[in-house]
Amino acid sequence: MQFIDVAEILKNGEAFKGKTVTVAGWVRTARDSKNMAFLALNDGSCLRHMQIVINKAEYKGDVSQIMKNGVSVSVEGTVVAALKEGDVEINATRVELLGDCPQDYPLQKKYHSMEFLRSIPQLRVRTNTFNAMLRVRSKLSFAIHRFFQERGFTYIHTPIITGSDCEGAGEIFRVTTNGYTDAMAAKDEADFVAHDFFGRKAGLTVSGQLEGEVAAMAMGKIYTFGPTFRAENSNTPRHAAEFWQVEPEVAFAKLPDIIEIAQSMIKYIIGAVLAECPEEIAFFEKAFEPGLRDKLQKVVDSDFVILEYTEAIDILKKSGAKFQYPVEWGLDLQSEHERYITEQVFNKPVFVVNYPKKIKSFYMKQNEDGKTVAATDLLVPGVGEIIGCSEREADFDKLKQAMEERGMNMEDYVGYMELRKYGSVPHSGFGLGLERIMMYVTGIQNIRDVQLYARTAGDLM
Ligand code: 4AD
Ligand code: MG
Repeated sequence: MQFIDVAEILKNGEAFKGKTVTVAGWVRTARDSKNMAFLALNDGSCLRHMQIVINKAEYKGDVSQIMKNGVSVSVEGTVVAALKEGDVEINATRVELLGDCPQDYPLQKKYHSMEFLRSIPQLRVRTNTFNAMLRVRSKLSFAIHRFFQERGFTYIHTPIITGSDCEGAGEIFRVTTNGYTDAMAAKDEADFVAHDFFGRKAGLTVSGQLEGEVAAMAMGKIYTFGPTFRAENSNTPRHAAEFWQVEPEVAFAKLPDIIEIAQSMIKYIIGAVLAECPEEIAFFEKAFEPGLRDKLQKVVDSDFVILEYTEAIDILKKSGAKFQYPVEWGLDLQSEHERYITEQVFNKPVFVVNYPKKIKSFYMKQNEDGKTVAATDLLVPGVGEIIGCSEREADFDKLKQAMEERGMNMEDYVGYMELRKYGSVPHSGFGLGLERIMMYVTGIQNIRDVQLYARTAGDLM
């Protein structure tokens, strides 16, 4: 292609000096002085803009046409030293207007709230925040793949449409081809399902874990990385209806082994973002979270806390802090409790381990005490839970009992149960929410702003 990335030119400014280049992008701001016009051009290849200098006397067209926020242009010119030491800019010899941008362009040069930007997902990508967010998300995703690939994990694509409910929380989006009127005509649910596409209840997956376990029982070490869906009606800044999960599953691994993998992975991917996105992290530090860089560096450099659930309850009870939700052994930790523990007590990531079995999922390995399961959540300051993790129950009878206690439909899990019948082995895995770690890494406080399109209840742009 004839166009060179702005990132490429800015990175190798010295080498480009004196060379003729062609770039293309969108004008972020335009500035006028007596004889000259200056355009700040962004092509999305990096956060920084390329300054384009136009000699008005030599410009053949109407310069006011290109001096508008949002217009797209291609520019041919010579790379020269800029005023600022070490920087380069382009002395334009030819500017071509590719697409005009009328005055009602919503992204004029002023402050825009995140709420306002959510109303224009098609344009908010052209702001620095979303430019930086999307690049970090891309680098983070690639680092996740690298981490697992370098360690011999096989990347598995688990189905999006499933007949099971991994988390059993009733948050499944139903998948059906029955139209509204057919549904009304159905006698009852069984009749509705019988006439449906699959002839049984189907939904969008809430987690690739159950199929991931199937793959791990042959491939040993696997990971999934794909979209998962939950009809979470809770309107919080941390819950999305569609989000990406990374779910490794490791045969022969016990809880401490999988905790070790989770910790190494978090350190690795955060280290990668620090190394590969220094400008973006500096931007987020300035715009969203003071001290962000140091916080992330500390995560890379120090080990996480491992805290028994029972101890966490003790700490919360003795804290004297006022919580909205009750603190009692046997109750789940609410977001306020999680944040108290990681923010007020430890100020670093914390693995809370061995939760009461009643509040956790059916598939988790039951501990000897008969009361807890070998499960852990990784909590981080500012966000709360980013990872849900457990050793899986590998014993057929114990698993069956846990499922029956929860009133689950055993027919939907025949294949899953067979893993415990034919060559069962201890195994463990976890799920990392990509949007949650994105919030932690960028300091962006609302999950709606770490996705290209926000996907939350009542909101489908
Ligand atoms: O804790 P969860 O529900 O665990 C599972 O789904 C397991 N099957 C994972 C496994 O062991 N393979 O979800 C895992 C993570 C959470 O810690 C959180 O980061 C993220 O997925 N998550 C959400 N992220 C955004 N919006 C939601 N509604 C989320 N629900 C879970
Ligand atoms: Mg969880």
